[in-house]
Amino acid sequence: MKVIVVKNYEELSQMAADLVAQEMQAKDEIVLGLATGSTPEGMYSILVKMYQEGKLDFSKVKSFNLDDYLGLEEDNDQSYRYFMNKHLFSKVNIKRENTFVPPAMTKDPEKSGLEYDQKILEAGGIDLQILGIGINGHIGFNEPGPAFVGPTHKIDLSEETIKANSRFFEKIEDVPKQAITMGMKSILNARKIILIANGQSKADAIYKTIKGPISPEVPSSILQLHQNLTIIIDEEAAKKLE
Ligand code: F6R
Repeated sequence: MKVIVVKNYEELSQMAADLVAQEMQAKDEIVLGLATGSTPEGMYSILVKMYQEGKLDFSKVKSFNLDDYLGLEEDNDQSYRYFMNKHLFSKVNIKRENTFVPPAMTKDPEKSGLEYDQKILEAGGIDLQILGIGINGHIGFNEPGPAFVGPTHKIDLSEETIKANSRFFEKIEDVPKQAITMGMKSILNARKIILIANGQSKADAIYKTIKGPISPEVPSSILQLHQNLTIIIDEEAAKKLE
């Protein structure tokens, strides 16, 4: 595991974008695993800028997102498909048919989850997975619980996550209670993982991810087992590591 501490969010976004760009330039048919949320927004805007400057080509890129809220249509501005269209897909030359997000409107999450994992395998597996992290250590929407879950699956969101994500909604009651998320199998199968986190609210989760015991109560702790993990954090998120 490599831990890189940078000064602030701008540096974090730049470093993450540079690493993604490096991987894309080395392999044009790359399969990217993508995250949503506040943390990667800066990284996406730098990647868009690199594309506009002719430094990046997304025409052969495939992408698989980590998660989405169950029951939100694509055109709902809180759906993660909407987020990805807004921040990346509509601004670069990625082919719409090469972008995958777990199906939010599925009536059978178990079946759809297995199909999603199968699609990842058929694409050759994820070359580079981008992860954010929840204040409770969730990655994707793998919430703390009694066991790690392998396949893409349905999850009941924790109170903490609902509260944290209510900042994007008008009122807390509007936050969906369930999501569909990639499980640990597809995440850990990624050949390379970059986890990014900034701000003091993430310091505890980052400490437990790096130094804590591996436990499903802190889902991100399982990343300690990954062979090619880079964690990029700002000074605030690194506070507890000193
Ligand atoms: C989103 C995702 C989540 C977020 C996490 C942090 O696709 O997988 O695990 O990365 O909730 O969200 P932000 O970046 O908004 O703090």
